[in-house]
Amino acid sequence: MYNPLDPATLENPYPVLAALREATPVFWHEGMRSWTLTRYTDCVAVLRDHQRFARDRRRTGAVVPEPSLSVQSLDPPDQAPVRSLFMNALRAQDLEAIEDRGRRLLAARFEELTGQGPFDVMVEIAAPLALAVISDLLGVEQPDLHSFAEISDRIMRSMDAGLDPALAEPGRIARQQLTALVESWFTVSSRPGLLAHVRQHADPAGGANLDLFVRNTARVMFQGGYSTMVAALGNAVHTLLRYPDALERMADPNLLRGGVDELVRFDGPVQGTSRIATEDCEVGGTAVRAGETVLALFAAANHDPEQFPRPAQLVLDRASNRHLGFGWGTHSCIGTVPAQAALRVLVQALLDRPARLHAAGAPVRRRTATMRVFDRFPVVFDA
Ligand code: HEM
Repeated sequence: MYNPLDPATLENPYPVLAALREATPVFWHEGMRSWTLTRYTDCVAVLRDHQRFARDRRRTGAVVPEPSLSVQSLDPPDQAPVRSLFMNALRAQDLEAIEDRGRRLLAARFEELTGQGPFDVMVEIAAPLALAVISDLLGVEQPDLHSFAEISDRIMRSMDAGLDPALAEPGRIARQQLTALVESWFTVSSRPGLLAHVRQHADPAGGANLDLFVRNTARVMFQGGYSTMVAALGNAVHTLLRYPDALERMADPNLLRGGVDELVRFDGPVQGTSRIATEDCEVGGTAVRAGETVLALFAAANHDPEQFPRPAQLVLDRASNRHLGFGWGTHSCIGTVPAQAALRVLVQALLDRPARLHAAGAPVRRRTATMRVFDRFPVVFDA
């Protein structure tokens, strides 16, 4: 049976997922109480059909606590005004300037780290860059990195509370701390940025509900955006150390844009997402009953050879690379563009540095099913 926390699977999930896709592409996972999908076409079919596959658990009779109601947990039509408010606010930001500030930050960091001996990619590169980019984007004062990283980690780990109930309570407390931080941004007059744009453009006729969804979405965006970027940056460094020629080739600007996207397909952070069937139906030839959970495994779909020829190879100029690393459909990632910018900042900083980065010990994967991320990743700059 598939165990996402098995050490060999954590190290490299793709062979296990390929074997499952071959043998039983749709299977019931008792531990996760879900129909698990490993084929690209099945995952897309579920994600695009929000009528029959709900994200909003209220549609299947569940009670969802108010703090959990955000763009991520609502479905159309409730989701639409919140999602477009945030999407429009994102489009109004000067993303090139944010990318530029990220580039300068990383160049200065690399300068400090060169000649210093071994250091941890996650602590010294991924976390500071992700926090700087997300704070800059939202237009909020950057919180203290160390304490925010702890809050975010507890929240992230609690997403696995279904597999380990002891993670739920620390996650709940961390969520309260995050709420207090985000609320503080709504009490002061905001500086320019995404949040200020959202506050200025939120339709007052939306009332208290819209206000609640906006605050909750700001929280999801800040913490979710930070934690996925940290994970994606760590995974990208790992892949680029394995394939140094790919890094060199990304000096070509034509390969840089598509290349960072291929890094997300190849070994992205978000392992999957779930939906609940609103009626009896069929997925990939398997009967699913109303109320049952369906888990679209992005990690499996992104390596499906039917969709991605040579899935185990990093192909920087892969044609029509419509991977699911940023999701699909009405819940696809709102932060795709800034996330890709952060990955470009990383790749360019690595290319610009005359010293080369090397592994300085075995990296350690976090024992978590939902997010593929390193806990520790020691490296060193040569000479
Ligand atoms: C490389 C980094 C990132 C990856 C791989 C990633 C991946 C994803 C994925 C797979 C989803 C869909 C989840 C689902 O269908 O349940 C998603 C949703 C979301 N992402 Fe990202 N994300 C990244 C960075 C960001 C950033 C930087 C932000 C904020 C600026 C962000 C904000 C969001 C939001 C708000 C949603 C929920 C959208 C909705 O449900 O309508 N993400 N992300």
